[in-house]
Amino acid sequence: MKSLINRFSRWGSRNLLHHDSLGGYFEPVIQLFKPNWRAGLYRAQVSDVSLLLEGVVAINLRVDDRWPIHQAGQHIDLTLEIAGKLVTRVFTVASSPNLAKTKNTIRLVVKIQPEGGLTHQLPVLTRGDWVNISAPRGEFVFEESKQSSLFLAAGSGITPFIAILSSLQKERAIAQPIHLIYYAKPEQHLLVDELNELSQQLPRFTFELMSRAVHGDVYEQLSDYINAKLLVCGPNKFYQSAKEFAKIYDCAISAEHFSLMGITESTTSEFEVSLNGKQLSLKNTSPLLNQLLTLGEHVNYGCKIGICHQCQCTKKSGVVKDIRTGQVSDRSEELIQLCVSQVLTDLELET
Ligand code: FES
Repeated sequence: MKSLINRFSRWGSRNLLHHDSLGGYFEPVIQLFKPNWRAGLYRAQVSDVSLLLEGVVAINLRVDDRWPIHQAGQHIDLTLEIAGKLVTRVFTVASSPNLAKTKNTIRLVVKIQPEGGLTHQLPVLTRGDWVNISAPRGEFVFEESKQSSLFLAAGSGITPFIAILSSLQKERAIAQPIHLIYYAKPEQHLLVDELNELSQQLPRFTFELMSRAVHGDVYEQLSDYINAKLLVCGPNKFYQSAKEFAKIYDCAISAEHFSLMGITESTTSEFEVSLNGKQLSLKNTSPLLNQLLTLGEHVNYGCKIGICHQCQCTKKSGVVKDIRTGQVSDRSEELIQLCVSQVLTDLELET
């Protein structure tokens, strides 16, 4: 019955009010009382913005009581209105769940991408500005066990580990030894003071700062950790080195990486793709989303790396490959993410 009512309400919203939800229709009215209120999202208010290093900004957000507290290591979608358009990107929460619980505050630490669509706006936010965030999501969380853990971070990939270690702060007697190897360019390591504090508070936690120019590839640092459980957060190349090590030594590995490997195809093929009935010709050499955006098609997207699900659409027919896992779909109807899908046959897509 409930699902029937939901379906009817969705149908009514789309066909009578021309909105995805009833809330979306009333959004402008509700915003008169609640700035930045948006259907399906949470409001958060900027409480502090600071520059950690040249090109890296830390933002504290006050979340409202309804926001479901994150688990350390999870990420959120952050949505800003930029030039009249809503732009969303995904960021890991770089603070402990306890801070959210006790002070309604979360922190994001973000590397500014000058060419990107959102991060360049973050340094100009000021205290009191409103933004929208999603509920927290993600599987990159730490489970205590007796096995020692090796955390591998690169660049801004330190953020989930800061959240995880801060969340362990209260339980000083953590069960297993945790060692962190943190790669960044010389003098570009983030939150080092916090890591120092954490290493004093957590007796079984140690860390090392490394740079590729000085220490070589991360793979070369791993020979002492063949029995450890690996948690990795960094660019794909960094992750691939750790993954190769884990494969050879049969280590458990869990990862969050923030760039995709390119598609390497020896032959370029072109396929007919129907997008909401419009016929397009797309190649197998780059993800569907990139090609659709290049062609000027209006499709939703956020992270472009398979995390936020904003580019999700229905594949009515045809075959795609998930470029993260190499898994090939069957021909039947299913939801796919455009940003991580490679076309393998003619397709019919509906957004
Ligand atoms: S754009 Fe985020 S999952 Fe595709």
